[in-house]
Amino acid sequence: MKHHILRWILFLIIGVGIGFAINNYLNIEKDLEGVVIPLSPDQQADVSAIIRVPPPDEATKESEDSVAGAEAIGGDFSLVDQNGKEVTQADYADSYKLVFFGFTYCPAVCPTELNKMTKIMEGLPKEITDKIQPIFITVDPERDTPERIKEYLESFSPKMVGLTGTKEQVSDVAKAYRVYTSKIETPGMDGYMINHSAYTYLMNPDDQLLEVYPDKDTADEIIKDLSARSYK
Ligand code: NI
Repeated sequence: MKHHILRWILFLIIGVGIGFAINNYLNIEKDLEGVVIPLSPDQQADVSAIIRVPPPDEATKESEDSVAGAEAIGGDFSLVDQNGKEVTQADYADSYKLVFFGFTYCPAVCPTELNKMTKIMEGLPKEITDKIQPIFITVDPERDTPERIKEYLESFSPKMVGLTGTKEQVSDVAKAYRVYTSKIETPGMDGYMINHSAYTYLMNPDDQLLEVYPDKDTADEIIKDLSARSYK
């Protein structure tokens, strides 16, 4: 009799254990359905790297075709330029565009990249620069007013336009270009920093992405690449 009871208890324990295991398994399966795993900031920053187009020597320079996956980058926007004028992508529809996102309080990367863009504009022959509109778009609409941007741009190519807008307008255009930004506040310190991806986008007059230049590309390399392209 005692043995029987023990055996039953053992069966019960094993049975319940198996039941739990099956139930857990089914629940995990269920939980996995429809799960969207959010990208970490690092992974988001890598998104631009993933859409990186072939290096110049691999790409067909004669081709005006946009690159694979390019439809995912860029798009319509509504912003305000450094003179306070409301603008959209249509205002630059006649030009190829070099687009860079940053902010005027950025201590290092942005000034370097905008100096590079200035060097590029100075280094290219006029028949090419006539076709190219350099555009700086802020990721810091809170502080980067049109006046602030206008003053900031005095250090760079006179052809450069600087765009800002409402928080929503800026966030929309940053999303359209897959720009990663992250605000960093340090307790006890005034102001804030913005961590951001630092790519320069080459767009054609139809707003299709032709190339993404990472910040490691030098002005000379980009000049070489831009010189080898055909323009309409
Ligand atoms: Ni910056």
